Amino acid sequence: MFDLLIKNANLPDDRKKFDIAIQNKKVVAVDRNIVGDASQTIDATDQLVSPSHVDSHFHLDATLTLGQPRFNESGTLLEGIQLWDELKPHLTLELIKKRARKLCHWAIANGCLAIRSHVDISDDRLLAVEALLELQKEMQNWIDIQLVAFPQNGYLRYKNSIQNLDRALKKGVEVVGGIPHFERTMNEGSQSIKLLCEIAEKRGLLVDMHCDESDDPMSRHVETLAFESQRLGLMGRVTGSHLTSMHSMDNYYVSKLIPLLRDADLQVVANPLINITLQGRHDQYPKRRGMTRVKELLNSNVNVAFGHDCVMDPWYSLGKHDMLEVASMGLHVGQMTGIQEMHQIFQAITTNGAKVMQLDNYGIEVGCDANLVVHQAKNPIDAIRLCNARLFVIRNGEVIAKASPNQSELMFDTKKESKVIDWTL
Ligand code: FE2
Repeated sequence: MFDLLIKNANLPDDRKKFDIAIQNKKVVAVDRNIVGDASQTIDATDQLVSPSHVDSHFHLDATLTLGQPRFNESGTLLEGIQLWDELKPHLTLELIKKRARKLCHWAIANGCLAIRSHVDISDDRLLAVEALLELQKEMQNWIDIQLVAFPQNGYLRYKNSIQNLDRALKKGVEVVGGIPHFERTMNEGSQSIKLLCEIAEKRGLLVDMHCDESDDPMSRHVETLAFESQRLGLMGRVTGSHLTSMHSMDNYYVSKLIPLLRDADLQVVANPLINITLQGRHDQYPKRRGMTRVKELLNSNVNVAFGHDCVMDPWYSLGKHDMLEVASMGLHVGQMTGIQEMHQIFQAITTNGAKVMQLDNYGIEVGCDANLVVHQAKNPIDAIRLCNARLFVIRNGEVIAKASPNQSELMFDTKKESKVIDWTL
């Protein structure tokens, strides 16, 4: 007797009419016409069933604070950081938790069951660290939250960061963060990378740095990040987030850089919604897009995932934590409109993100955790195109969120029957 049987699903790799059987929180069979009783059955005919979406870069401590204490009028990264500094003294543990919890509810309803969140350790009270560690525990049955100790005001630039980072890691934060382009000099940026990677190596932790989130083509900290990753044997365990300066770099230099990133198995996270709005703000015309070179990195076998980064906070006023919206923006900004490329974009919010976060047992194979999404869409491309309802969100084999299908009707002639719109070819 299965706990849950999903019938006739379309899978992300284009296999069609497959059944997925789930027992004891795990996928136990993926095949055509699985026979057997089940406590619950979902008919997924013509619908995409994928592993849960993964957001590999977010800030749960700042989310849903929009307008407090004021709006970011310039729209720049630096005004966002200043605004966040103004807000920090007014934060309380309960407020941070309340907002982050609400955001998690949005994420889950949209099919995202894993979030890597950076948490600012530049506040000496480490309130956000406490709040998010509590929330991580509270939400563990529904969503995986992985925390990164993030020295927002600089690891060497802010006087208490060294101490605060150590305190945060001792409390249980599991990833070492950094922000080399925000240190006072290029030299201190490089030094911060070396020190932070050494801490990660010593403690057996992962690394994820905000790196080169700048339009300055000479911001080249990513090469140091890749170098330290290799020097310390951290290959595959280090992530470079944003890497927007790569957009503006000299092409010859990039032709040397990308193989270095690949050799170091550096994980890359792009944040399309945020960087298309934050970058290029000092440009007149033409205005640079500012997203890192997603297509070229993927073509060189570098793992690239997408993050949401922000929702209604000092850096970004919009969003409802929908990774399909992130995928759509990434596809457009990166001009990845080929069929294979659009499939790669879907992987950037699913399997590639799972690789960045090193999630165990992720996927739709026998033995994987049954964390799945039934989309109101036939395939990954339609999922991105339509951003339709997530009909069922399944966590450890149980439905934890559901939605009615989106439906629009034309009513040209009220005397006749209305016509339900079919959004497919
Ligand atoms: Fe970020």
